[in-house]
Amino acid sequence: MRILITAGPTREPIDPVRFLSNRSTGKMGYAIATAAELRDHEVLLISGPVNVPSPRGCHIVSVETASQMYDEVMEHSEGCDAVVMVAAVADYTPIETSPQKLKKSGDKDIKLKRTKDILGSMRQIFGFDGVLVGFAADTEELRENALSKMKRKGCDFIVANDVSRKDIGFESDHNEVTIFQSDGSKDHIKKCSKQEIAGKILDKIESLLKG
Ligand code: CTP
Repeated sequence: MRILITAGPTREPIDPVRFLSNRSTGKMGYAIATAAELRDHEVLLISGPVNVPSPRGCHIVSVETASQMYDEVMEHSEGCDAVVMVAAVADYTPIETSPQKLKKSGDKDIKLKRTKDILGSMRQIFGFDGVLVGFAADTEELRENALSKMKRKGCDFIVANDVSRKDIGFESDHNEVTIFQSDGSKDHIKKCSKQEIAGKILDKIESLLKG
């Protein structure tokens, strides 16, 4: 199959040296890309700035901002069998980016505007009809948030993880997730390596494509 994966954080520039970002390291997305490549799938990885080694054999497109990620996903998702949106895309970006480094002078307000929802655009705007997988990182009401996200964004399944736990998720090599599927089933994967979770996610995608 041909699979597109987004990974890592985005960076939203305030001025030439400062940006808004988040704690995503890209490990989960890169683990899925590596596992897919090992299974001989054709992998396109659209990645925000990360410090993890590039998986061999994958076509990697590097981006910085949510808007660049949106454009690259729009350009490359056509003809893909599956799209897995692991990236922690910024929900807000500064309305203005100063071309010059901002000098300090008292308190400052930074005005933000919403970014475009890439996952939420896949069905309605890009007309994507393959297997669509989203991620949900929450600190509370995991199930409710995951189910409403899955419905709103038209996902086949959503991988939910609790980012309030220090031992899993962001910056960790491990995760513990619950996969909620649009057919109403759910699958809890106990704490294990991100490689193992990647394998389980790919199993699900492959069986949906066969199915
Ligand atoms: N996502 C995206 N484009 C955005 C924001 C998020 O494609 N601009 C994708 C992420 O890659 C992930 C899923 O949407 O697969 C996460 O959904 P989101 O609603 O952004 O989650 P939260 O940021 O946790 O949302 P909320 O603030 O509503 O809880």
